Amino acid sequence: MPERTGIPRSRRTFLAGALASGAAATPLLSGTENAAAAVAAPPHPRPSAAPQPWSRDEVRDDARWQTCLGLARQLLLVGTKNEDLKLTYLRTLIDDGLPRTTAPKRVLVIGAGISGLVSAWLLKAAGHDVTVLEANGSRIGGRIKTFRVGPETSEQPFSDPAQYAEAGAMRIPSQHPLTLALVDKLKLKRRPFYNVDVVPGTGNPNGTPPPVTYQAFTGETWSNGSGPGEYKAPTQASNTWILANGIRARKSEYGDHPQAMNRGFGMAEALLNKTTHASMDAILGPVYDYYSRRGKDGTRTLKPFDQWVEGWAKLLYDFDGFSMGRFLTEYAGLSDGSLEAIGTIENLTSRLPLGFLHSFLDASDINPNVTYWELEGGTATLPYAVLPQVAAEVVMNRRVTEMEYYDPAHAGQAVHTDAKNRVWVRTVQETGGDHVPGSEVPGSSQEYTADVAIVTIPFSALRHVKVSPLMSYKKRRSVIELHYDAATKVLLEFNRRWWEFTEEDWKRELDAVQPGLYDKYQSQPGGVPAVHATGGGSITDVANRFVYHPSHQIGDSKGGVVLASYSWADDAVRWDSLDDDERYPYALRGMQELYGTRIEAFYTGRGKTQSWVRNRYAMGEAAVLTPNQLVQIHPAICTPEGPLHFAGEHTSLKHAWIEGALESAVRAALEVNGA
Ligand code: FAD
Ligand code: ARG
Repeated sequence: MPERTGIPRSRRTFLAGALASGAAATPLLSGTENAAAAVAAPPHPRPSAAPQPWSRDEVRDDARWQTCLGLARQLLLVGTKNEDLKLTYLRTLIDDGLPRTTAPKRVLVIGAGISGLVSAWLLKAAGHDVTVLEANGSRIGGRIKTFRVGPETSEQPFSDPAQYAEAGAMRIPSQHPLTLALVDKLKLKRRPFYNVDVVPGTGNPNGTPPPVTYQAFTGETWSNGSGPGEYKAPTQASNTWILANGIRARKSEYGDHPQAMNRGFGMAEALLNKTTHASMDAILGPVYDYYSRRGKDGTRTLKPFDQWVEGWAKLLYDFDGFSMGRFLTEYAGLSDGSLEAIGTIENLTSRLPLGFLHSFLDASDINPNVTYWELEGGTATLPYAVLPQVAAEVVMNRRVTEMEYYDPAHAGQAVHTDAKNRVWVRTVQETGGDHVPGSEVPGSSQEYTADVAIVTIPFSALRHVKVSPLMSYKKRRSVIELHYDAATKVLLEFNRRWWEFTEEDWKRELDAVQPGLYDKYQSQPGGVPAVHATGGGSITDVANRFVYHPSHQIGDSKGGVVLASYSWADDAVRWDSLDDDERYPYALRGMQELYGTRIEAFYTGRGKTQSWVRNRYAMGEAAVLTPNQLVQIHPAICTPEGPLHFAGEHTSLKHAWIEGALESAVRAALEVNGA
């Protein structure tokens, strides 16, 4: 099973994507699709000079090559002495903490998201004097946000007081050891999150989760426990729907007979008999070849260390300039129909203009073969479990609006800083909240000074902070240019978990609402059979795009909150133009197209929604880079500027994951402690 980076948990062998699920092992750039495209005489010649597996002689631009080598090492977490940095981070965060300091510093941490909280915790424990400044007046956690009754609010989000739902992070892949080990260390309860619906009563999903184990590329193993745990994965059912071009199929049916759905897109003959997932996996084969070798049985083995790192460097060298759209058309030679099918079903359409590498890396964390976990009580329990470690240090409702740092080269321009007070920030209090308009409270300005700062706020938010003196050119460009994706969730509450119903359950429950109601709905045209799914979700080309059912019953509650729409990029922007309250009826209507009109009988009329672009403290979902941004601006994102250090999801190469935020938190804390 590949890690997010395609790196297996064991370096020895892994099965790549669909090959693991038994899909046909078709060689990449499979001739037929290309041949079909060639017959159609594409306007541009197919690049016979398409990037080939690495050979040093091909590398022309040495500066770019060095940048790519550095990026590859950062991506693979290879330290300066070829040590495995993930192992260092696990030992630091979970086992030992930072070495106790003999030279305590005054540290300002800007932002109380998970990266700020964790770096503050580590530095405080090492003996530093830490202050965390958070803009939000009502909650910590940033992009980890649960609609719930908790320390952040006593306002019920849903009609059933037991219910809660995620506005941001919801699933933790089993190959994210820092996140899971932190969850276990804080004694939070985790349980499986079903990306794919399961057969109830199979496996042992509620058994003790297995310990977190990490196999370093150095051969060392880290684990927070022993024994296998009692957990056993349930069987996947794949009953949920794919609905596109007016054609409906269960995912299992699509897996067995993909032709009808694929034909709906006008997919090329060569790919008609494959699921889009299998096609995508085959298309990516030559990219996997950069750093791994495929055996006869489809098993992939990573190349030896040097070739593995250099293979990734060459992959970055060759592909950072590609958008996913360009990759699929120019490199893989897909026809329009194939592109549209893969884009719709594999959630790529809205991201076709964005960097190939983002979606390539993300595919190893979001695919049907990954096991995921969720936190009982909501993901917000994670930052709130860290909070007590630094509660006295966190100052809420303090938005940083200006920063000055001491740079001896510009000492003459320093107004607030000197060699002793090397960091100065101005903060203000604000009215409003996450996405409620607000403004600065007059007279609320307060200043803070320190020896060093860790800036964890997204660069989208840093864009509105005045920093002096000017930071380095490349850093400024990265603040100006770093692309943030849009992501929007619309959640609807139902008083019955109808998605778990069989047809008999539907009859019983609808007739209990009103005798004869079942038949009334059945007599209407366009009825939809019971989806009968525990967890998992559906895919559609209606505006909702991706729907997720809750994986678990909450308490004794008979109902549940469905993620009626989870969308990214342009798909999300379509929702962002609507005000919150306008989104619910549209989301319900899209759900009815997918699941039938009758679901309205159980809608409580309550919903919650979160646009991350419209969130005033996030200003976007996550750093999702456009073509060329890895090479052009990523290297400058995490380098310190004098006493300013940088952490947060965007400084890692696990964008849009808690794991990346945690890697960055430990890295920045080590930097500050060691400086
Ligand atoms: P943030 O959480 O954004 O923290 C930054 C903090 O800085 C915030 O508290 C903010 O209020 C504060 N701030 C901003 N500006 C200022 C200022 N000027 N002054 C002071 N404070 C300021 N990850 C997963 O692992 N699994 C998932 O399933 C998952 N799903 C996601 C779904 C969505 C829709 C989103 C948006 C994210 C998802 N993620 C997921 C990613 C994960 O939530 C983030 O990577 C992580 O929470 C980022 O943490 P951070 O500390 O880097 O940033
Ligand atoms: N980690 C998030 C999730 O699990 C987001 C992934 C990537 N986001 C994106 N816009 N490509 O859903």
